[in-house]
Amino acid sequence: MAARNGPDSFGIVSRGLHWGIMLLVIAMLALGMRISDMQPGLANLWLYGLHKTLGITVLSLMLLRLGWHLYTPPPQPVGAKGPAFWAARMVHWAFYALLIVIPLTGWAGSSATGIDVVYAERWVLPPLVTPSIEGEAFWFRLHDILTKGLMGLIILHMLGALQREMAGDGTLTRMLRGRA
Ligand code: HEM
Ligand code: HEM
Repeated sequence: MAARNGPDSFGIVSRGLHWGIMLLVIAMLALGMRISDMQPGLANLWLYGLHKTLGITVLSLMLLRLGWHLYTPPPQPVGAKGPAFWAARMVHWAFYALLIVIPLTGWAGSSATGIDVVYAERWVLPPLVTPSIEGEAFWFRLHDILTKGLMGLIILHMLGALQREMAGDGTLTRMLRGRA
């Protein structure tokens, strides 16, 4: 089982990162919507801590994934041609951008509240911005808007992948087993 990607195949590292990050992101979207509807209090503070810790984990894994894909580039999309090929590429790049910027906006919004961002209830991360009510509103609004964009792209991406797999080009098989 190859660790690195080939010209027509996804290695185990890229596949593991793809499906692992996908599960984390879906859990994070659900958890984020849950906490934004709650009144923060002692009883639910741990949910905020969990959201922050998992969010910083997504940021770290995305940086790792970016580095890995610079070292061993993933194969080009199969099946799609012309505009569909470029749409698939753009969605992939947008995922990298959003999954780096979204955790940073969450971190900045949390810093603006004046409460420390603590990773895994252990490591205090440095604040990204100075505390202010305007900053808190601005960064969390941006966090909210970008996560809505992310949800739309996930649906598009999933439908695109399923449609190409049903057309018989093996797109999904390649992300599951490595080769089409
Ligand atoms: C991939 C990473 C992340 C995703 C997908 C995500 C997703 C979300 C979503 C969907 C919401 C609800 C937005 C709303 O309806 O207003 C939310 C809220 C929130 N997120 Fe994140 N988040 C991520 C990372 C982070 C990080 C790293 C932090 C802090 C270090 C953070 C802190 C918060 C906080 C404190 C709220 C509640 C804001 C409020 O009460 O209005 N998030 N997140
Ligand atoms: C949070 C959700 C998701 C994110 C952020 C995401 C992200 C990505 C990215 C960035 C790529 C390009 C390859 C890479 O750089 O690793 C990719 C490829 C792929 N994804 Fe996803 N993905 C998500 C969910 C899904 C789901 C639910 C499916 C299943 C239907 C899926 C199926 C695929 C397939 C089949 C490919 C290969 C596409 C090709 O070869 O052109 N992804 N995904």
